[in-house]
Amino acid sequence: MVQPSSPASRRWRRVGLGVAVAMVPALFAWLAWQSIHSRRPPPPAPAVSAAPLPAASEGWAQVQAQFCLRCHGMEQTHVGPGFAQIAQRYRGEPDALAYLARRIREGSAGVWGRKLMPRQPGISAEQAQAMAVWLLAQPDPPAH
Ligand code: HEC
Repeated sequence: MVQPSSPASRRWRRVGLGVAVAMVPALFAWLAWQSIHSRRPPPPAPAVSAAPLPAASEGWAQVQAQFCLRCHGMEQTHVGPGFAQIAQRYRGEPDALAYLARRIREGSAGVWGRKLMPRQPGISAEQAQAMAVWLLAQPDPPAH
């Protein structure tokens, strides 16, 4: 036999129901908040090469330190072609940077004429790469 509920217990039941109803939107808000905050930012895109390219200014310092200017002018051909001419020749090529860096260390013959550029084993791969970065940043030579 069900006891007739007292007015006091009926009020408590209503309070309980009210709390339960109020919790529904709170639960949704909490779920929404969770889904927003548990979303991780996308991982950064992988870099093409692990090490960042050296600055052109670093390459320019090397070019001066390694006596390249004894044989190369900026624009004019001395013993070797001017740096602007070299830049103009290779700029569009996809592997220009690696190619020039290798040439700087291994020397070159027969590409520009009959003179040859000696090997330069004292230059590190990093130094050569910095010089190649600088070289490719040279403006085209003035049209004659
Ligand atoms: C002894 C003179 C001499 C010195 C010193 C010299 N070069 Fe050269 N360089 C040449 C000559 C000559 C050529 C052209 C060779 C050829 O026709 O293949 C040349 C060609 C180059 C080329 C173009 C290679 C190609 O395949 O087209 C680059 C790049 C270059 N030199 C960079 C340098 C840098 C950077 C230095 C300093 C670290 C340097 N050179 C020092 C004489 C020199």
